[in-house]
Amino acid sequence: METSVARKVADQTANDFLPLHGTDYVEFYVGNAKQAAHFYKTAFGFQSVAYAGPETGVKDKASYVISQNKLTFVLTTPLKTNNPIADHIYKHGDGVKVLALRVDDATDAWHQTTKRGGKSYLEPVTLKDNDGEVVLSGIHTYGDTVHIFVERKNYKGAFMPGYVKWNSTYNPASTGLLYVDHCVGNVGWNQMNPWVKFYEDVLGFKNILSFDDNDISTEYSALMSKVMSNGNGFVKFPINEPAEGKKKSQVEEYLDFYDGEGVQHVAIATNNIIETVTDLQNRGVEFLKIPPSYYETVLDRVGKIDEDLKPLSELGILIDRDEEGYLLQIFSKPLEDRPTLFFEIIQRKGAKSFGKGNFKALFEALEREQDLRGNL
Ligand code: FE2
Repeated sequence: METSVARKVADQTANDFLPLHGTDYVEFYVGNAKQAAHFYKTAFGFQSVAYAGPETGVKDKASYVISQNKLTFVLTTPLKTNNPIADHIYKHGDGVKVLALRVDDATDAWHQTTKRGGKSYLEPVTLKDNDGEVVLSGIHTYGDTVHIFVERKNYKGAFMPGYVKWNSTYNPASTGLLYVDHCVGNVGWNQMNPWVKFYEDVLGFKNILSFDDNDISTEYSALMSKVMSNGNGFVKFPINEPAEGKKKSQVEEYLDFYDGEGVQHVAIATNNIIETVTDLQNRGVEFLKIPPSYYETVLDRVGKIDEDLKPLSELGILIDRDEEGYLLQIFSKPLEDRPTLFFEIIQRKGAKSFGKGNFKALFEALEREQDLRGNL
């Protein structure tokens, strides 16, 4: 018997002009892709997947593909100056260039989104090799960031044509990272609503949650945020903009140092955040420190949880609850010298929200770091 909920989901899917199967990969433009690949393998437990560069006939860049469960990163560096990748790194430092989305039909995705006002980045192109074919297309989003639509249903190779399988004898153990839960964009003053409209109009996303500066403010800094989700909920993009506070907000600091709009954080799911974060910390990954006082009252706010509080407090893992369950989350320090991109590690136990109850503790922790950098 069909329930009304099932019918609603079916209707949404039927009306979805851009059905998405989730994040295909995240591509970073970095100053040294060889070293970045080693860092993500060693510190985060990624495995070598594929490589493209001069040895494979690519003259102007080198790309290393690494993965862990359903999480795929591409690390790309330019080989010469006077190259758009080099320009991107000169302006932004290391950062996310591509949020790639898996689709059944990349040609249709391009037509559907560009006819709704999306600015083309890549016209549909079919790449072929002995393992089959991949169709790519792409549109621009905020800043210099782009979405690539990836159609790979007819491909069985390591990554995509143009890449060779990367066999490495160095294979650090996984840290239990599973897939991209959400990716957050920081946009400029008064730019949140135009980008919300972009995701609604061009990609058919819905605004599922909003936070204003009353939700997200500390003594000093404030921001506003709206969470955009596609129809099946596999792809979620919160969009932040700065709000007026006593001092410079964390979003402003990002915009200053990234020199424009871009991806603020990639949130990665795990099924066991205590094990994952213990492992990451042992491998040298640094996280924001949360004051012990947070743990004195947190259970009054969130109620009973399955985990012991002691390891959560030792690791600095935050807890929040919504109507559907609770979540555990932690935020890394920036992954590069500029205070720009960082990672969130998240374990959802029913909750579908984003940790609103932690914003104050989190932002105070961020401000302490900002203050150390002299940017508060
Ligand atoms: Fe997040």
